[in-house]
Amino acid sequence: GGGRAFLVAIDGPAGAGKSTVSRLVAERLGFTLVDTGAIYRTVALAASRAGIAFDDDDGLGRLLESLPLELRQVQGGGQAVLLGGEDVSKEIRTPAISLGASAVSARPVVRSGLLELQRRLARSAEAGAVLEGRDIGTVVFPDADAKFFLTASAEARARRRYDELVAKGEKVGFDEVLADQEKRDRSDMERPIAPLRPADDAVRIDSTSMSKDEVVDTIVAEVRRRLAAG
Ligand code: DC
Repeated sequence: GGGRAFLVAIDGPAGAGKSTVSRLVAERLGFTLVDTGAIYRTVALAASRAGIAFDDDDGLGRLLESLPLELRQVQGGGQAVLLGGEDVSKEIRTPAISLGASAVSARPVVRSGLLELQRRLARSAEAGAVLEGRDIGTVVFPDADAKFFLTASAEARARRRYDELVAKGEKVGFDEVLADQEKRDRSDMERPIAPLRPADDAVRIDSTSMSKDEVVDTIVAEVRRRLAAG
């Protein structure tokens, strides 16, 4: 209440269906979507273009001081990412930038440098914002109005990722995808800074045997309940 934007945090590991669910939830509620993974990806892209190594803390720190990053809401749901006015939404999804995003997201200078940006983007939302990420409910907005932690079994998450890659025509094995994911899960949960973990007051949703619509309905219903409660 109080006129400020209603903030919804959706955190969880890769492959739990967060991106689609967050986009649909934002659309249903008429809220602004803030995909924070896209922000880490854009930092990696900007670093790579500027010839700054992903572990060069001084270089990354300077880059962040004047990063010309904007999010634009796309008609029909979703979000475009602009870097210096250029739409880089596609370019930040390449495998090289995925690795780069993971590397820069482990640097404290990057995590702290992006805190204010994430908070500003969410607070400037008109009605409310859906923030999708890893540490929204624990670090970025510990006082978010509704927090969700979306998971699925390792098997189910790897299966979704595998199907996506195969659909894109990539030649990968399921075991390889599962092994890579386990490695990433471990480093995400064991990193000393902002490790992936549910906030104590997050609603946990295991999507292993739920459809996307069921997950979206569950989140929207809970948000509406809290909006009505004021
Ligand atoms: O969700 P994604 O794959 O677009 O995220 C890209 C990378 O950024 C991923 O390695 C996790 C990291 N990330 C993070 O550390 N904290 C966030 N709030 C969002 C993403």
